[in-house]
Amino acid sequence: MLINKLSEINKGNINDQIEAIVLITEIKLKLTKNEKKYADLSLQDASKKIEAKCWEVDENENFLLSLKANEAVKIKAVVGEYQGSIQLTIKEMERAKEGEVNIRSLIPTSDWGIDSMKKGLQFFYDKVQSPHLRLLLDLMIFSDDHYERFSTYPAARRVHHNFYHGLLQHVLEVLKFSYTVATTKRLTDRQIERLIVMGFLHDWAKIFEYKPLPESGFTEEGTMLGHIFMGAHKTLNVMKEIADFDEEDKLIILNGILGHHGKLEFGSPVLPKTVEAQILHHADIMSGDVESIQSFMSEDGNNEESFTGRLWNMGTEYYKKG
Ligand SMILES: [Fe+2]
Ligand SMILES: [Fe+2]
Repeated sequence: MLINKLSEINKGNINDQIEAIVLITEIKLKLTKNEKKYADLSLQDASKKIEAKCWEVDENENFLLSLKANEAVKIKAVVGEYQGSIQLTIKEMERAKEGEVNIRSLIPTSDWGIDSMKKGLQFFYDKVQSPHLRLLLDLMIFSDDHYERFSTYPAARRVHHNFYHGLLQHVLEVLKFSYTVATTKRLTDRQIERLIVMGFLHDWAKIFEYKPLPESGFTEEGTMLGHIFMGAHKTLNVMKEIADFDEEDKLIILNGILGHHGKLEFGSPVLPKTVEAQILHHADIMSGDVESIQSFMSEDGNNEESFTGRLWNMGTEYYKKG
């Protein structure tokens, strides 16, 4: 049976043989207790991640060792189940031929639609009227150097917004949530402008912290410095290029970037010191937490249970029947 999307596989397919084109995200050769070699594979397409085993390693060892993470392969596999989740047993595997598959089509992607997200960016950009703040956004977001990465990168390695256009979707969520609070609580126009700039820039340095999809993980710079420091540092450098950048705006925006994780133990070197920075922090948490619960629920293939497994970042499980 040819599978177009891994998410089509369900428990009704147990023992079926399937064929699919997938991306290998991880491959590890291991030994059983009886010293027999086998391979543990993490596979994905745009719809789902799935674990797989390959027991016939001896005959295919050179091929398996030559595979790199993020290569597309064609597989024939038998559907099984392990600890409540679907698991595949690979029977045959070969590299997808050049031109046979577009890697982008195997990467999970925001379902918001890029055109509506661009409109959203424009909506919030238009709310910023002070020339020095607009110029800051022009140089950091809408420049040829950064826009492509800003609009395609993920916002996290796992848990939330870890998909193509993920940073863009997360930034728009943060902007929408913060703007709603700011107008409800009647912040001044000046405060709202600063808050919007902080929303745009708070995670901006993730374009340097992470590797581009389909790779995952941190760059060297990201591992050594992290997006909070890099965000503040690079933003300060751009502010210095702008003539007469308002000193108070500078401090407030930098504090917003540095404080957006809200607690010292979550990586912020200072706490939010303005109402704008506090709103930004709450909007950031709201966006990440809600997305992580929703994505965990949709990836949880075990539909007979009332609750998801425990989300490590939330410390609890979630009811999913309603
Ligand atoms: Fe962050
Ligand atoms: Fe964020």
